[in-house]
Amino acid sequence: MKPAPALQKHFLQIKDLRAEEYAYLFERTRIIKTRFKNYEKYQPLADRTLAMIFEKASTRTRVSFEAGMYQMGGSVVHLTTGDTHLGRSEPIEDTARVISRMVDLVMIRTFEQAKIERFAAASRVPVINGLTNEYHPCQVLADIFTFIEHRGARGGNADPLACLQGKVVAWVGDGNNMANSWLQAAEILGFKVHVSTPGGYEVDPAVAGVKDRSCYAVFDHPLQACAGAHLVTTDVWTSMGYEAENEERRKAFVDWCVDEEMMAAARPDALFMHCLPAHRGEEVTAEVIDGPQSVVWDEAENRMHVQKALMEYLLLGRIG
Ligand code: CP
Ligand code: NVA
Repeated sequence: MKPAPALQKHFLQIKDLRAEEYAYLFERTRIIKTRFKNYEKYQPLADRTLAMIFEKASTRTRVSFEAGMYQMGGSVVHLTTGDTHLGRSEPIEDTARVISRMVDLVMIRTFEQAKIERFAAASRVPVINGLTNEYHPCQVLADIFTFIEHRGARGGNADPLACLQGKVVAWVGDGNNMANSWLQAAEILGFKVHVSTPGGYEVDPAVAGVKDRSCYAVFDHPLQACAGAHLVTTDVWTSMGYEAENEERRKAFVDWCVDEEMMAAARPDALFMHCLPAHRGEEVTAEVIDGPQSVVWDEAENRMHVQKALMEYLLLGRIG
């Protein structure tokens, strides 16, 4: 019999963890990434199993969780709607009860947030949100770690959260799952998001789940949102599940393409991030995403490192 999880904690949205837990996770990420880069074996999750349920497509989320779990000594079961009874209307709670008796951890990518919450409520093991219509917390975890790596103080005793204080993140584009997760992170970690979306695609603070309206400001024009920003970030115009709106969105978002003029309005040392997949010539120009301020490849790689720290935390609690 395996020991019970150190914490019965889920990671369904950014606000599920506190600032001091993020500080711990970013420090663990730094250590785990350094070990990986030095080819040091680190397998604290031997005999642990992660089930991954995908109801939407994925490249990064699948590879980062799967590779990360194997590297930590565990194993992975990969499920999709089409090859499980989830696609044949078995109740989500029944699925959760069964799967969580056999594995130690579950990652789900699905549509409505309510679905993952129902799964988590019936689960015996921690559940991680691998993207829903409303939130993408693992991506924002990786993005913030990437910002800290590039802009934080170096050295073992440095507070990883210090470099975030008072910073401005410009969000240009859809008021979507990524935008909502950025807003939650701003509220908890002490930075501000300058949001510019086309009319009709605004962030909704109730859906975003933020109480403190001072964690973000809304701008009509994307150039205004980018002015003085430390980080400029965007995402696809049409998220998965909204493909029927594609043509309408292409027209509405035409002025929300992050280009060199927007980057020039930001601080000279501003970073550019995109969770990927990207569409060059739509939400970002090739000059920006492939340019010197872009850190999108670090951002993608860091998905694996932050999620290894997250899985370690959810399964083993604090180390040391
Ligand atoms: N950024 C991200 O979640 O990518 P995938 O859709 O490829 O998993
Ligand atoms: N907002 C995008 C993110 C993809 C990783 C989507 O939900 O499709």
